Amino acid sequence: MDLPNSQTAAARLKKNSPLRPTLAIVLGSGFHHALTELRVDKKISYAKIPGFPKPTVSGHAGELYFGHLGRTPVMVLSGRVHFYEGHEMERVTFATRTLAAFGITDLLLTNAAGGINKNFRAGDFMALTDHINFMGANPLRGPQYKNLPRFVDLTETYDKKLRERLFQAGKISKLKLQRGVYLAVSGPSYETPAEIRAFARLGADAVGMSTVPEAVVARQCGLNVAAVSCITNLAAGIGKGNLSHTEVLETAERMKKSGAQLIKNFAELYLKGRMKNEE
Ligand code: HPA
Repeated sequence: MDLPNSQTAAARLKKNSPLRPTLAIVLGSGFHHALTELRVDKKISYAKIPGFPKPTVSGHAGELYFGHLGRTPVMVLSGRVHFYEGHEMERVTFATRTLAAFGITDLLLTNAAGGINKNFRAGDFMALTDHINFMGANPLRGPQYKNLPRFVDLTETYDKKLRERLFQAGKISKLKLQRGVYLAVSGPSYETPAEIRAFARLGADAVGMSTVPEAVVARQCGLNVAAVSCITNLAAGIGKGNLSHTEVLETAERMKKSGAQLIKNFAELYLKGRMKNEE
């Protein structure tokens, strides 16, 4: 597939704002309300960034923002494209490569997920400690990127320090922040109860259809990654009824203020941590 160079996209972004954040945040379902906390410097439609596709799923806007959360300069991506929409992995992860080319060093990925762990409830949040890639594709497959490793170490995909900031932010935001392993499927069908039983045995605490491709590419590019899920439903066979996208959206709506606070407090703690490191 012929995508523009991520350097070209990053150069375009630099023309749009004088801000040079080191933290970028990708908003998934349940987290878009964070935009209400953002002091916007500039909003750019994905359609205007070379290589960025327009997301097709409702609830995923397709806009990139420069702004501040509290005093922290951030880049915020509202909406992502998913593998299940039919995009190649290269396109799914193009925005991540662009962020790295721009000079972002730390990335917070957010998503909606189904809870597998029996202690989870709909409306909980979960900080990712690790993941299982069950998508049937690896985002690094294909021609080798110049100056980037071919074989990427994923021993510590999700950065401990950033995760600690998530927990601190969770406390301040007074919300239930669980921790666990996120298993990524390609979707878009939800899972069968038998699949969920199998995933539980494999060690998964939650299941979703995003995040893993971005996290893997971010690690290849040397970014520090943190990720958090909003547990919007109990996975198939764990809860009582059937699953629906409506239920996912309803829980996301119910938890939107908590999700927004979590992100804002995380961004503030991130800045404090950076200032401490520079002392
Ligand atoms: N399965 C997969 N993806 C999801 C789910 C789920 O139960 N809930 C939200 N995203």
